[in-house]
Amino acid sequence: MKGLVLAGGRGTRLRPITHTSAKQLVPIANRPVIFYGLESLRSAGIHEVGIVVGDTAAEVRAAIGDGSAFGLRVTYLPQQAPMGLAHGVLIARDYLGEDDFVMYLGDNFIVGGIAETVRTFGAETCDARLLLAKVPDPTQFGVAEIDENGVVLGLAEKPVRPRSDLAVVGVYLFRASIHEAVRAIEPSDRGELEITDALDWLLRTGRTVRSDVITGFWKDTGRAADLLACNQIVLDGIHRDVRGSVDADTTVTGRVVIAPGARVHRSRLVGPLIIGPGTVVDHSYVGPFTSVGRDCTVTHSELEGSIVMDGSAITGIRRIQDSLIGRDVRVAPASGVAHIHRLVLGDHSQVELAV
Ligand code: G1P
Repeated sequence: MKGLVLAGGRGTRLRPITHTSAKQLVPIANRPVIFYGLESLRSAGIHEVGIVVGDTAAEVRAAIGDGSAFGLRVTYLPQQAPMGLAHGVLIARDYLGEDDFVMYLGDNFIVGGIAETVRTFGAETCDARLLLAKVPDPTQFGVAEIDENGVVLGLAEKPVRPRSDLAVVGVYLFRASIHEAVRAIEPSDRGELEITDALDWLLRTGRTVRSDVITGFWKDTGRAADLLACNQIVLDGIHRDVRGSVDADTTVTGRVVIAPGARVHRSRLVGPLIIGPGTVVDHSYVGPFTSVGRDCTVTHSELEGSIVMDGSAITGIRRIQDSLIGRDVRVAPASGVAHIHRLVLGDHSQVELAV
């Protein structure tokens, strides 16, 4: 069994972060979200993984390399344009050969792993197996209708009137029969080759597609709120590990990770939280469920429930909460004139100011 990880795509829902960076590399507890998927494949006994890459190929390659850090052999499969999930399968045809495979969307985050589903699929004969999750708003996802045994009866991509509350999770188990399906379908209204249509083609040609309904945590990390929720889940499981320097005027409460080379002065840290290498926290409060990347500065500020990516500086701000802050960002009070906000925001930025 091989793995096929999709890491192309434009990540439009995560702009402006994704104007400059791959959505699969946005950090959850200071590690790219795609790392969790790669680990989950490895834990399911998969060693060979093809990664479909697009515009952000260089960055994805730099982060994952040859895969040996994950115990994987990684092959990169360039996709000229993000033309849909089924297009990812289409271009991976030669790499996959006749093997069964797990397709894993690089921006999906699943707690609990996929080992059991992979084992089940290895011992059965159906053409595909899906993971499904009950969601409050199925219109945002592929939606499946199933019978009492989990056999899939029908599928629809982002239906206006969903026929169930079961969303298709971004992990799919396929046999080589999917290759015929992805060749048979036409692009959808959004101009993409939809994997949902390929699965529907399998059903229409008399194949069996089964499913597992997962009850654990799952997010498609398409939006800032989803990323913050994933960050919270991962931080909730960390253990205290203070390796950076913490001065005597700092109090550290709860499960706090401070990477080597980080420095904390005259501050109050309340975990769970993580502070990356080279980061300086001074005269500040950093509260629960916060991840601060590497080489950041947090000075005379308060920060809680947020993700701050590498190289950013937050100075003199009370308080930043539930925020997603990109790389090399500067946040500081407007100097000179009182009571004004002075902003330089990238396209598609979102700002909610205390007024
Ligand atoms: C894709 C699939 C959808 C699935 C979702 C899971 O949606 O098309 O069926 O439910 O991933 O993350 P997209 O993220 O491309 O909108």
